[in-house]
Amino acid sequence: MSTAEHPNTQTAPAGLPPNVITLPQTAQLEALYTIIRDKNTPRGEFIFYSDRIIRLLVEEGLNHLPVIPKTVETPTGATYEGVAFEGRICGVSILRAGEAMEAGLRDVCRSVRLGKILIQRDEETGLPKLYYAKLPEDVASRYVLLLDPMLATGGSAIKAVEVLKEHKVPEERIIFLNLISCPEGIRKFCETFPKCQLITGWIDKGLNEKRYIIPGLGDFGERRYTI
Ligand code: URA
Repeated sequence: MSTAEHPNTQTAPAGLPPNVITLPQTAQLEALYTIIRDKNTPRGEFIFYSDRIIRLLVEEGLNHLPVIPKTVETPTGATYEGVAFEGRICGVSILRAGEAMEAGLRDVCRSVRLGKILIQRDEETGLPKLYYAKLPEDVASRYVLLLDPMLATGGSAIKAVEVLKEHKVPEERIIFLNLISCPEGIRKFCETFPKCQLITGWIDKGLNEKRYIIPGLGDFGERRYTI
């Protein structure tokens, strides 16, 4: 079956906010998602194939960093007019599921600095509440790859960006990477932070009454960490 004939294979939906980028919606990518969405996929396979998608997301994130001209001399004695990354980066994971994306970032950027943010729903107010944040001390001068595999309502991601902004990270230096998103979360996140970039692997249909993404893959943290 060709990509064009396949009922689920999609080009990114039209009308997305300009700061949303999807991974190329190829048949290969959909095959990876089919494995991790399958409730019968064992944990080891879930980790292997979700790591493959995370790697693609990280690479795509790096594609959106600014570069400056850099000229080098090659072993042939010729000069090559290339580019180098303009700024430094760090990763910030939203615990606990976002931690699963750290290794994928380290594979690509070997000694990358990492921070962590823990946000949970406040029992009394029902709103996302910050419980813990540990960020690189120079986070304000870095580009931040914000890591959370599932963009559902957008509550945690919005709170995390608020925390980064309180630490003086400019909105336009934040790139939020997620494996699966839905229109509700995308809309809310992009309305709140129109200057952040949002890179998502796949946009699903929506949320169910328990705020799980549909079709989704269930609870990412549970599937990743629970045997
Ligand atoms: N977090 C998950 O792990 N899964 C969802 O569907 C939504 C949020």
